[in-house]
This record gives sequence, structure tokens and C-alpha cells, in this order.
Amino acid sequence: MSSSAELSGPTAEPGNTADRPYPQGIPEATVARLPIYLRALYSLAERGVATVASDELARAAGVNSAKLRKDLSYLGSYGIRGVGYDVEYLVYQVSRALGLTQNWPVVIVGAGNLGRALANYGGFLTRGFRIEGVLDSDPALVGGKLGGVTIRHVSELEAVVTGNGIAIGVIAVPAGAAQAVCDRLVAVGVTSILNFAPLVLSVPEGVDVRKVDLSIELQILAFHAQRRFAERYGQAADQAAAEA
Ligand code: NAI
Repeated sequence: MSSSAELSGPTAEPGNTADRPYPQGIPEATVARLPIYLRALYSLAERGVATVASDELARAAGVNSAKLRKDLSYLGSYGIRGVGYDVEYLVYQVSRALGLTQNWPVVIVGAGNLGRALANYGGFLTRGFRIEGVLDSDPALVGGKLGGVTIRHVSELEAVVTGNGIAIGVIAVPAGAAQAVCDRLVAVGVTSILNFAPLVLSVPEGVDVRKVDLSIELQILAFHAQRRFAERYGQAADQAAAEA
């Protein structure tokens, strides 16, 4: 994983601070909240909202408004007193900070249940990602169409990556195959990997891996559901005991 604590602007050049869009850099914690702001902004834009107050955006994103204002100040976005932020422009600013104003070419390795769902999801394109390749080892799947892309055999991984300038690799193969797929992606120059397989991948310095684990998310929800359940029925039991 990258060890850098801060993200500098996509066009940042050392020694050219005047042209750098994010002269102070953007803290990692802020970077992690930007996609949440973006999701809230998309939903406001879809409802036709043109401007949004920081309090309202903070509520929609589930953070406090001082933190939101501080986060957005790293992007050079301060809003207008009494008016708030221009939604469309803020979408652009946040997207630009996340590097989403260009379309990132993505390859999905594994065209099973998950790979198919991801490849068929049309929303990636509007959010800055273009699925350029889908690969699988099953000859029965190779040649089939998925989300407008022809599934190719995984033996062509290197050709697909180099031929399409792939920036991001998505791993959706069984755990036993994931490390070998990862090694091949890294060897051919992919430095950003989204891993769905249930294992921790080893990668060299300079390669970023994000792991998605829906069962962890479900476990966290289960924890909160259990707490709510205990509160509700604990109170009911206390009340019944008091009335008895
Ligand atoms: P699946 O069995 O439907 O699909 C796996 C696909 O990978 C198959 O089409 C298979 O032919 C292909 N494959 C196997 N070895 C390969 C290789 N070396 N190169 C290229 N393709 C290869 O499985 P499903 O349900 O799509 O799950 C895929 C992965 O995602 C699994 O590791 C699963 O555990 C994981 N998963 C993770 C979730 C999460 O929340 N992180 C949720 C659901 C699945």
C-alpha cells in the first residue's frame, strides 16, 4: 500500500507551486470522505438542487459541517456566505480532486456472478470509470459479451492491460486464483487494485489495494441492529418489570 499520508493534486509538479491545484496537499482522511460528499452531491443534483448550504450537505453526507467546510477548503472551495455551494461546480471540484474528470480504464478479472454484476453496472461510466476488459479462464465464457465488452481469456491479461492503458484492476476470481492474478496485473504495470476475493494480497511498495468485503459491512450492520434490538426490548422488559 502507498505510504504517503497526503494526496497531492493530479497535476502537481514539484517546484511549480503557483500552478498546483492543492498546494497544501489533501489529507488522507479528507480523501476518504470525498466520495461520500460526491454521492450526496449527485443525489442533490438528481433532485435538481442547484445550491446547497454546508449544513445541509454535511447532514446528507453524515459528517459535521465544520469538518465538511475544512475538507472542502483543501479543494479551494469555500462556498458563498448565505448561498452555500454551487452543486454542479462542487461535483466538478470533488471529481477533479479524486481524479475522476478523466475516465479511468478498468479491467475486471473473473466474469462470474460478481464480475458480471460489476461489468453490467452502467453507473461506473458516469463516475469516471470505463470497463475496457473482462477476463476469465473458463473457455465457455470467453467470447461472450458483458456490458458491451467481449470476455477474453485470462491468458490475454498482459495484452489487454497494455493495449488499453489499464489503470485499475478489479479481482473477482476465487481466493485460490487471486494472488496469481494480482501478481500478473502488477508485473504488467497496474498499480491500483480493487480486490473482492477473501484474502489479503501481497503487493510491492507503490501498489494500492482496496479490499471490498460485504460480509464485514453486514457484520457491522448486525452489530448496530443487535444494539437497537437490545435497547428496544431491554426497555420493554424494564417497563414490564416495573409494572409487575
Ligand atoms: P464465481 O465462481 O461466480 O466466479 C468466479 C469466476 O472466476 C469464474 O467465472 C471463474 O471461471 C473465474 N476464474 C477462476 N479462476 C480464474 C483465473 N485464474 N483467472 C480468471 N478467471 C478465473 O464467483 P463470484 O460469486 O463471482 O465471486 C468471485 C470472488 O468474489 C470470490 O473470490 C468470492 O469469494 C468473492 N466475493 C466477494 C464478495 C465481497 O463482498 N468481497 C462478495 C461476493 C463474492
